[in-house]
Amino acid sequence: MPLDVISVVGARPEFVQAMPVSRALRARHREALVHTGQHYDYLMSRAFFEELEIPEPDWNLGVGSGSHAAQTAAILTGFEQVLMQRRPHVVVVRGDTNSTLGCALAAVKLGIPVAHVEAGERSFVWDQPEEINRVAADRLARLHLCVSEPARQHLAHEGLAQTAHVVGDVMLDALMAACEAAAARSTVLSRLALTPQAYALLTLHRAGNTDVAARLEAIVAAINSVREPVVFPVHPRTHEALQRAGLTLGPHVRAVPPVGYLDMITLERHARLVATDSGGVQREAYYLGVPCLTLRDETEWTGTVEAGWNRLVGADPGRILAAWTDFVPPSARPPIHGDGRAAGRIVEILERTFDAR
Ligand code: UD1
Ligand code: UDP
Repeated sequence: MPLDVISVVGARPEFVQAMPVSRALRARHREALVHTGQHYDYLMSRAFFEELEIPEPDWNLGVGSGSHAAQTAAILTGFEQVLMQRRPHVVVVRGDTNSTLGCALAAVKLGIPVAHVEAGERSFVWDQPEEINRVAADRLARLHLCVSEPARQHLAHEGLAQTAHVVGDVMLDALMAACEAAAARSTVLSRLALTPQAYALLTLHRAGNTDVAARLEAIVAAINSVREPVVFPVHPRTHEALQRAGLTLGPHVRAVPPVGYLDMITLERHARLVATDSGGVQREAYYLGVPCLTLRDETEWTGTVEAGWNRLVGADPGRILAAWTDFVPPSARPPIHGDGRAAGRIVEILERTFDAR
């Protein structure tokens, strides 16, 4: 019997993650896609659906931006309406956004089981919005699909070992699926007049950096001091924060609007160095073998740090600038997040759990 699945997306990383999971699910089951509308600018949303051929969402809740409470409340009530029209066997949520938490909570309150992809990740910093979302979503979920063994262990410590499975990273599935298309179609290097290995790539959007003036100023001061072209696709949150703070970027910093996924992975692949506070970009840098400086004090993706390819530099100009020139990762890069076939495993586990074979 095929499964009826509702998959939830809302923010940029969820569109990337949806691509491999939708493909694997739709080969054997019925999937409807709900877009909460958390991200809505063309370059933050629609562009991904067109480029990655993600199925058209069956519903768009159109929640837009707002305070955490307003946005999560709109997601809760909007998603509840969908679930009352179409009751699936399972709701699949991903990661740690307000869309993840809002939809998980709406489903559970209607007695519909939730599967959480990227379960068990922890920063252990409780006041981060993402940590609250991921801990709460894990508590609500019936099934926990983990990127790696440490995530499964976090869940085991929280009493959730029975429902936790290590499947690998669907972001790696997406990257492997898109590499060829990126090589064939992306023109970003020539458009931005970049030479491979002769630039660094920067992304920045965590509230902990953009909304704390001292951290934003310190990071901008550090980036303005590096002696290398820096390409910086700017998240809308960061664009607003930079304007609010009246900060300007040096002439070597090429700030551009958010780029599409194929351009992004092309920029990552050919960068000498990546500096980021993004969870997805930290992992992609690792998979592509590009040294990564993480502009945070801690990370969920500890395996990339332990492997020596990711260094935590916080928002400290001294640490950022020292690592910018000194950081040399080792030659080994073990496959810490699986083999790029996480989506197929997720479908098999859904089938076993919900008796759909
Ligand atoms: C959200 C996630 C974060 C994730 C990030 C991926 C939460 C709490 N945070 O952060 O974990 O890493 O997405 O990118 O869910 N905005 C626009 N246009 C858009 C979207 C946002 O202008 O299409 C601006 C708005 O001013 C908005 C701000 O960005 O207030 C923040 O957007 P929001 O969705 O609340 O959180 P993100 O910072 O994007
Ligand atoms: N990304 C993109 N264009 C950009 C910035 C990021 O396509 O301008 C991709 C990136 O390659 C990764 C995902 O978006 O696949 C990560 O999203 P983001 O950094 O917004 O969120 P996080 O992973 O931190 O939650």
